Amino acid sequence: MTQRSLFDDELPPRPAPEAPAVPELPAPTDPPLLPEQKAEVLERLREPALSCTRCELSRTRQHVVFGEGNPAAPLVFVGEGPGENEDATGRPFVGRAGKLLDDVLRENGMTREHVYICNILKCRAAFFEEGRARNRPPRPEEVDACRSWLDQQLAIIRPIVIVCLGAPAANVIIHRNFRMTPERGRWFTHSPYAPWVMAAFHPAYILRLHGPGFDEARASLVRDIAAAREKVIEVRRQLREQGPEAGLAGQPGARRSLFD
Ligand code: URA
Repeated sequence: MTQRSLFDDELPPRPAPEAPAVPELPAPTDPPLLPEQKAEVLERLREPALSCTRCELSRTRQHVVFGEGNPAAPLVFVGEGPGENEDATGRPFVGRAGKLLDDVLRENGMTREHVYICNILKCRAAFFEEGRARNRPPRPEEVDACRSWLDQQLAIIRPIVIVCLGAPAANVIIHRNFRMTPERGRWFTHSPYAPWVMAAFHPAYILRLHGPGFDEARASLVRDIAAAREKVIEVRRQLREQGPEAGLAGQPGARRSLFD
């Protein structure tokens, strides 16, 4: 008899269920949705995403981590993918890295309700060692398989600014072979996902640093998020000055938001 691994005993892969149907969604050229429409269409997209079987990660995940926050947010954060806590809860950035993200948002006068948070991968990428799941970087085929969920989320939300948390997200959203040291904190304006995009340090990377390195990286994340918020305010001001035809009417977020 073949010896079963601890992994087999403790985390048996589930059989893949039927692939779900994806609802019809707005094309990138359609006029932006109203805030309440964004919430509704995003919910319609969440449903099939929760039973996605486009890659092998569906066999070992506990939960699909679709994303959360304000569907009409002008500012979206995109991370790499769920870790242990996110996989267990189905919510993005709820572990130590998530606490740091919440802290730096708060230091910039924001909460999760002002922004939208998601990842390039919706399921945890893990390898199994001695019966325990451990995080690993996403494989290119997993990123490709998951990409249309992110594409559609961003097509619905149509944020003004995206902040990529870490190089894996920047590789997808900004350009391949993104290098954090020279390119972090710079604005990129060629993305199909949003008019203004930048990359900031991933909170989990910051948590691995110590002493002055930690302080500097944390301060840079606070500054990058401040710059992202300022950019939203600046763009909205410009749009308002240009009048309703400039597109503010359809732009994300309610008027009374922090960004006005
Ligand atoms: N790291 C990420 O990139 N995303 C999460 O949701 C949590 C940790």
